[in-house]
Amino acid sequence: MLKADEGMWLPFLIEQNMATMTEKGFKLTKDDVYNINQSCLKDAIVSLDHGSCTGEIISEKGLVLTNHHCAYSEIQSHSTVSKDYLTEGFWATSLSEELPNPEKTASILVKVENVTEQIMSSISDTLTHDECERVIKNKISDIIDESTFENNCDASVESFYYDTEYYLFLYNTYNDVRLVGAPPESIGKFGGEYDNWEWPRHTGDFTLFRIYTDTAGNPAQYSPDNIPLKPKYALPISLSGYNEGDFTFVMGYPGYTTRFVTSHELKYIMECENKVRALVREEKQRIWKKYMDTDEAIRLKYSSKYAKSANYWKYSVYQNKALRSNNVDEIKKQRELEFSEWVSSNDSLSEIYGEALTLVNNGIEESKEIMRALNFLYETHISGAELFLVAYLNAPAMLKALQSGNDEEIIDATAIFSEKMADFFKDYDSKTDKATTKALIKLFMENIAPNLYPSFIDTDITKKHKGNADKYVDYLFEHSIFCSEEKVKYFLNKPSAKKLAKDPVFIAAESIVSMYNGYFAIMSDADNMREKGMNLYVNGLRAMNPDKNYYPDANSTLRLTYGEIGDYEPGDAVYYNYFTTLKGVIEKHDETMPEFNVPAKLMEIFANKDYGIYGNADSTMNVCFITDNDITGGNSGSPVLNARGELIGTAFDGNLESMSGDIEYDSDIQKCINVDIRYILLIIDKFAGASNIIEELIFAKPETNNN
Ligand code: ARG
Repeated sequence: MLKADEGMWLPFLIEQNMATMTEKGFKLTKDDVYNINQSCLKDAIVSLDHGSCTGEIISEKGLVLTNHHCAYSEIQSHSTVSKDYLTEGFWATSLSEELPNPEKTASILVKVENVTEQIMSSISDTLTHDECERVIKNKISDIIDESTFENNCDASVESFYYDTEYYLFLYNTYNDVRLVGAPPESIGKFGGEYDNWEWPRHTGDFTLFRIYTDTAGNPAQYSPDNIPLKPKYALPISLSGYNEGDFTFVMGYPGYTTRFVTSHELKYIMECENKVRALVREEKQRIWKKYMDTDEAIRLKYSSKYAKSANYWKYSVYQNKALRSNNVDEIKKQRELEFSEWVSSNDSLSEIYGEALTLVNNGIEESKEIMRALNFLYETHISGAELFLVAYLNAPAMLKALQSGNDEEIIDATAIFSEKMADFFKDYDSKTDKATTKALIKLFMENIAPNLYPSFIDTDITKKHKGNADKYVDYLFEHSIFCSEEKVKYFLNKPSAKKLAKDPVFIAAESIVSMYNGYFAIMSDADNMREKGMNLYVNGLRAMNPDKNYYPDANSTLRLTYGEIGDYEPGDAVYYNYFTTLKGVIEKHDETMPEFNVPAKLMEIFANKDYGIYGNADSTMNVCFITDNDITGGNSGSPVLNARGELIGTAFDGNLESMSGDIEYDSDIQKCINVDIRYILLIIDKFAGASNIIEELIFAKPETNNN
C-alpha cells in the first residue's frame, strides 16, 4: 500500500521513520522534530481555528506565516468598499497598526500522550455498541477535564485507525491573533477560481498574522496591553532555493482523509457526496455570481463565502474524474481481494476478520440513500440558503429568555442576539439569498423522495402554498424577522415570544434540523455496522502486513510528511516543470479579468528585474514549486522545509490530477503546491516596502546552505 513518500506521520512517533528519512537526506534528529523537554520544530507549528489551516512562527515576536486563503475572511472583515484590503492589500507599519480578529484562534501543541490503555480498560465485551460508545465518551471527557485542569491547557482526545488507538493532545490556544500583512488579491489569490487546484500556478498565497499573549506570556483574550508571543521556536528562512530531487518535509494539520475506504464506499462517495455537492453548489454559485457581478457591495459581502464554496465544488467535480482516471476502484478491489484471501487462509483469522467487508458493505448499502438526502439537505438548506441556520442558531436562546419573562435575562439575550445578527447581516444580501433559497428548495424537492422531506415542505409549501416553492419563499421574506437588519431591529423594539416562536423561517429551521438529526437516527444501526467493519478491516490489514508502517487517516492532528521536489506528467504529451517564475505571472496577465490583472508595481519589478537577494543568479524569480509531500485540506499554510529544517516555502494547494488523493495517494502525480519563500519576501520587501517585517525574520546562515 505504501509507495514512495506517501504518509502523514505522527511527529511524536517519528522515530519509526528516521532511518528512511535520513537515507533520503534528512539532516535533523527526532528530537529536533518533537521533544517536550526542549524547543523543537513542533513549537513553531500553529493550528489555526482548531484545524482549518496551518501557520508557522517565523520570528521571535510571534509572527505567523500562513496562506492568503486562510486569512481571507479576516481580510474581508476589515474591508469596506472604500477601504478594500482584498483589492489593495494591507500592511501594518508598526505593532499598533495590526488588526485584531475576535474569532481567530492559534493553537500550539504542548504534548501528546497515548491514552489507549486508559480508554480500552473502561469497556468490556459484555457492553452493547451504544453502551461502549457512551462509556468511551465519558472516559474521554474525564481525561480532558483532568488534563485541562492539571496542565492549564486546551485538551482533546482523538481516535486513530477507526477507534483502535487514542491520544491526548494538549495545546496552548491563543485568542489574540492580529493581521499584520496581506498582499492584494491580485497576488494572494492570483488566478482565482480558474487556477485553483491547478499546476502550473503563479499565486502568492500568503498572509502574516501575529500571536499576542498577556504580559506574563500566557494565552489571553484580546487586550491593547497584550504583547507579542515569545515563541519557544521560530523557523529560520533559507534563501538558497532548491533543486529537483531535494528532500523536503512539511509539518501541519491535515484535516480529513479516508484512505482505507472500500471499493463499495467509493461508489457512495462519488454518487451521494461529490455529485450532490457539485450539483447544488453549481446552482448556488451561479446565482451568487450573478448578484455579485452587479453590485460592488454584494461582491465584497459574498467574496469569502463564494471562494469557500467554489473550492470544494471544484474539488468534488475533479475528485470524481481523478478517481476514475487513476483506477482507484481497481486498487481498492485488489486490496480487498488480498485481504479476503489472507482471512480465508486460516480459521482463526476468519473468525476474527471474516465479517469485516460484509459489515462495511451492508452498512453502506443500508445508509446510502439517507446519506444522499442528508448531504442534499445540508448543501441546500443548511449551507446554501442562509436564513434557516442563522435562525436555528440564534432564535432559541432569545425565545427562552422572552418566555422566562425575566428582565435581566431578556436584556442579556437581546444583546447577544443583536450582536450575532449584526455580524450575520454584515455579509448578507437579502435579494441574493431570496433567489438562492427559491432555487435550492426546488432542487432539493426535485431530487429527494418526499418521505425524506423535512416537515415544513409538506405543511408550508405543499399545503399552504399549493406546492409552489417560489410563493412560499416570497412569503418567508415578507413575514420573517430574520430577512433584514431593519426587521430584526423592529422586532427587538417590542420583542415578543409569540412572534418569534411563530416566525416562519424559525419554524422551517426547526423542521430542517429535526429531519437532519432524524436521518442520523434512522441510519444509526447501519453506521454502527460500517464502523465495526472498518475497525476490523483496518486492523486486519495491519495484522496482515506486520512489517509495514501504517499511518492513520488525517484527523486535524499534527503530522509530518516527507518527500522531494519534482516534476510530473499530467497526461499524454504533457510535461510540467517543478517550479514557476515571475515570467509566468506576466504571461497570464489580462487586464480584462480581475483574476489575472497583475498589479502595475509587480509588472515594474519584473521589467526592472528588481529581485534583490530573492532572485536567481540568471535574473529569474521563482514564484511557486511542487513537491510530492502528502498533504490535504487543513495543511494550507504549512511550512515546507528543507533537509535542515529551514523554511523554503508555504504549502497552499493540491493538483487536479490527483484529487483522488484523499482516498488513495498516487505516487506518480500527487503534488503539493507551494509558494516559494523568496517570492513571499519579494512581495513583502520590494512590492509592499514593509521593511519592518523583513527586519524581524531569521535567515539561515548561508554557510549551512550547501547541500
Ligand atoms: N484549493 C485550496 C485549498 O483547498 C484553496 C484555495 C483557495 N483559493 C480559491 N481560489 N478558492 O487549500
